[in-house]
Amino acid sequence: MSDFRRVPMGVDPYKPSSARIYNYMLGGKDYYEADLEYAEQVLRVAPDSKALARMSRRFLLQGVEVAVGAGVCQIVDVGAGIPISPSVYEVARKVEPSVRVVSIDFDPVVHAHATAMLSGAAGNTPMLADLRQPADMIDRLSSEGLIDFAQPVAVLIVGVLHFIMDEENPGGILAELRAAMAPGSYLVVTHATSESDSRFVRQAMSATKGSSAVPALRSRAEIASYLEGLETLAPGLAPIQDWLDDDLPATRVEILGCICRKS
Ligand SMILES: C[S@@+](CC[C@H](N)C(=O)[O-])C[C@H]1O[C@@H](n2cnc3c(N)ncnc32)[C@H](O)[C@@H]1O
Repeated sequence: MSDFRRVPMGVDPYKPSSARIYNYMLGGKDYYEADLEYAEQVLRVAPDSKALARMSRRFLLQGVEVAVGAGVCQIVDVGAGIPISPSVYEVARKVEPSVRVVSIDFDPVVHAHATAMLSGAAGNTPMLADLRQPADMIDRLSSEGLIDFAQPVAVLIVGVLHFIMDEENPGGILAELRAAMAPGSYLVVTHATSESDSRFVRQAMSATKGSSAVPALRSRAEIASYLEGLETLAPGLAPIQDWLDDDLPATRVEILGCICRKS
């Protein structure tokens, strides 16, 4: 567990954070007591959540392999989380050694970890930015010379969209990103659905109240509407289990994933 004395400015270690809960679920060490408590509550109603976190990670890395395998050499990983190996950068560079990755997160703890862990890795840049301000994000990526939006780019938004509230307009955010992406670009997304176990839904809502980890669970149709105008690769918007090779069981929390391409 992380030491409270090292909490960056503006971070409340008493409120659960999605980055740190996810780090715990993946077997990392970068979480606080509040995250551990919340994660243990989730595991009581959805004991398969650690397995689901690993599946989500596999899906993310599969998206990277698909996009880079198709010739995309620049990646924006939005809501990148606390760095963990194998990382997006490691997997991308195995396929194409010249790939550049920008790892964006709005959480100062994540940014501090990413800055410490990624410094020195050529072409791997951490950035503190908020997906809910897509125009600013795109502008910075472009003006700082990190991403050339005239060329195809892979945008990864995995495990993040369900933390964007309705009033923050997730569909509009994706439309803005899509408009900035050149033809041949890829979008890799996941979203937890309202079909998830109802005990989990109730408990997640009450335990995360007032924190940045409150989820907005949505229907398949709503999530599909965010991807309009993009070509969806097979098997389309589907439980992430369907994207992975093995015969994986359904989980209490349902997460849909999709790898999309802009033609
Ligand atoms: C569950 S983790 C997913 C990490 C990573 N994408 C993965 O799949 O391994 C969600 C991450 O999204 C970040 N996040 C949530 N809302 C965000 C926003 N509006 N802008 C940027 N990052 C955000 C959180 O801080 C957290 O690190």
